[in-house]
Amino acid sequence: MPTLNINGQSRNVEVEPDTPLLWALRENVGLTGTKYGCGIAQCGACTVHVDGVAVRSCSTPVSAVVGKQITTIEGLAVNGVLSNVQKAWLEHDVPQCGYCQAGMIMAVTALLKEKPKPSDADINAAITNICRCGTYQQVRAAIHAAASA
Ligand code: FES
Ligand code: FES
Repeated sequence: MPTLNINGQSRNVEVEPDTPLLWALRENVGLTGTKYGCGIAQCGACTVHVDGVAVRSCSTPVSAVVGKQITTIEGLAVNGVLSNVQKAWLEHDVPQCGYCQAGMIMAVTALLKEKPKPSDADINAAITNICRCGTYQQVRAAIHAAASA
């Protein structure tokens, strides 16, 4: 039974090693903030962090993340205090249906860690998440706001 480190806690998950991390998170650990969109690494709805890097969990086997630090949207706020990205999301009223937004926030958080002041070109290159509600303009405005917070 693999042991995963998720949001700072050790969790045993009863899954096969090739089970996608997304299913272990949602079905075994009960962290349903991470969403299933396409299942083929295209949409980004399932984005989590593995050792601080944005990873599409639908296409990442559990065996690849044993011994690494996994962070999900549920682990982003520290002691109930929202991150700058989460605050910017609220201030800019980014979500519409919300389905893609956890993945979007995780991808943006990883981008800002790597590039604290991203240009529009950096954003275009790094944030390839798909939003069916078309929140892209608000996402971009919130990224710039979070970068200057
Ligand atoms: S569900 Fe993983 S990228 Fe779409
Ligand atoms: S807010 Fe609805 S899919 Fe992005």
